[in-house]
Amino acid sequence: MKINARQYDAIAKSVFAPVYPLIADQIIEHTGITSGSCLDLGCGPGSLGAALARKTDLYLLFFDQSEEMLELCERTIDENGLRGRAGLLPGDIGSIALPDGSVDLIISRGSIFFWDDLPQAFREIYRVLAPGGKTFIGGGFGSAALKESIRRQMADRNQGKDQFGQKMRTNLGPEMRRRFEEGLQQAAINSFTILQDEEIGLWIRMHKPAVSNNSSCSTQRREK
Ligand SMILES: C[S@@+](CC[C@H](N)C(=O)[O-])C[C@H]1O[C@@H](n2cnc3c(N)ncnc32)[C@H](O)[C@@H]1O
Repeated sequence: MKINARQYDAIAKSVFAPVYPLIADQIIEHTGITSGSCLDLGCGPGSLGAALARKTDLYLLFFDQSEEMLELCERTIDENGLRGRAGLLPGDIGSIALPDGSVDLIISRGSIFFWDDLPQAFREIYRVLAPGGKTFIGGGFGSAALKESIRRQMADRNQGKDQFGQKMRTNLGPEMRRRFEEGLQQAAINSFTILQDEEIGLWIRMHKPAVSNNSSCSTQRREK
């Protein structure tokens, strides 16, 4: 499904705007990576990568299949004073034009739900991840309260219809978690943790061991 870039940008800069700094904090808390390189997959207009760049010393590489999204992202880079600390990379998640082991942190919000071939995407992500690198990939709205507020605002914009709320529940629910776990298994990736609860959303934190040992597996459901 093709997303209308201008419409999405308008929502990212208004209704979704408070979400990105909160998720940036969660990325820092759950990965501990604040320097080196960061790849924002399916970056859209770049709001999450920009929020993270403002809180860290990371160099941000914004990746998306949509040229229009990358144009909007260029504007976000300028608006956030990130020239010299950021780059743009067009492409499809199934084939990322970066060398093996070249990125310290890989983030992605709200894009994985559009990826056709999850095992291939996970293989590519793990390939470009540097030894010792981590990922924070999935979906969320920063907190349960913010998620509910956004659900209501989106329903108001849609004449009271709760289609967005329905999508939220599907994308962040147990069936999606199973899809992620199956995809990771098919990609033969064992070193990951799934973070899932009402507050944080649903995220995959992969960890590429610093020494070549791909044997540790854990899944975690955060209780409130
Ligand atoms: C819902 S938007 C999320 C944008 C941004 N991450 C955010 O949270 O605001 C999903 C983005 O993923 C991109 N995307 C979807 N499938 C993709 C693929 N296979 N390869 C690269 N980008 C993809 C879309 O072009 C779009 O910009």
